[in-house]
Amino acid sequence: MNIILIGAPGAGKGTQARLLEEKYGMVQLSTGDMLRTAVKLGTPLGVEAKSIMEAGKLVPDALMVNLIKERIAQRDCAKGFILDGFPRTVPQAEALDAMLAEQGKTLDKIIELKVDEAALIERVSGRFTCEKCGMGYHDTFKKPKVEGVCDACGSTSFKRRADDNAETMKARLQAFNEQTAPILPYYAKKGMLVSIDGMADMDTVTEAIERILAG
Ligand code: AP5
Ligand code: MG
Repeated sequence: MNIILIGAPGAGKGTQARLLEEKYGMVQLSTGDMLRTAVKLGTPLGVEAKSIMEAGKLVPDALMVNLIKERIAQRDCAKGFILDGFPRTVPQAEALDAMLAEQGKTLDKIIELKVDEAALIERVSGRFTCEKCGMGYHDTFKKPKVEGVCDACGSTSFKRRADDNAETMKARLQAFNEQTAPILPYYAKKGMLVSIDGMADMDTVTEAIERILAG
């Protein structure tokens, strides 16, 4: 099954994609994670993306489309993928349709996670992840079972994202509202969009997604 999770920054896309990957074996394709890896490695894409991401703006469509086009053509994506953070503009959505048609693939479900702005800010400001395995946590909503130790891999190193600060978050929300929200009517017109309440706790959101996948 190939699905898209759409939601504002902090809506829970990454959290849910990771759970679905574990449970159903689909591959999580987080363009944000791919870009952060590129920045860390200092690749040409990373060099170009770094300051854009730090400003909370969107990386140019052409770069993102190439990145995803190459990634979904890889063999592991044949077992299904979860797009997390792509498409983020109408031109990206159009390019995705074209590349899927070219590769003989289709989308099964497009799921929007709806979350209030105040909750988004609270989620993003408390977020941290395991440096080793990438497991996501939150200062209030999802603490490690043993303080300072990753539940998944036992590592004691955690990191916070450079763009998870109040000023950048404002720009990220603006980018979402102005550039990404228009993909909702794009998919709604095709009759493909299902919106769910992303304000619920993580398990309830997972259950809602699983009902959609089963339907
Ligand atoms: P990206 O990494 O995609 O960031 P984002 O869209 O801003 O989304 P986040 O990763 O912040 O949120 P999330 O929805 O994954 O939330 P999470 O599950 O972690 O993109 C970063 C940047 O890269 C962009 O700004 C842009 O510059 C660039 N970029 C990426 N893709 C691009 C593209 N296609 N085109 C152009 N530019 C692109 O949850 C957040 C926190 O809340 C966690 O701490 C979690 O534990 C907690 N939480 C999750 N669910 C719940 C819940 N139900 N209840 C309580 N807490 C919860
Ligand atoms: Mg994410």
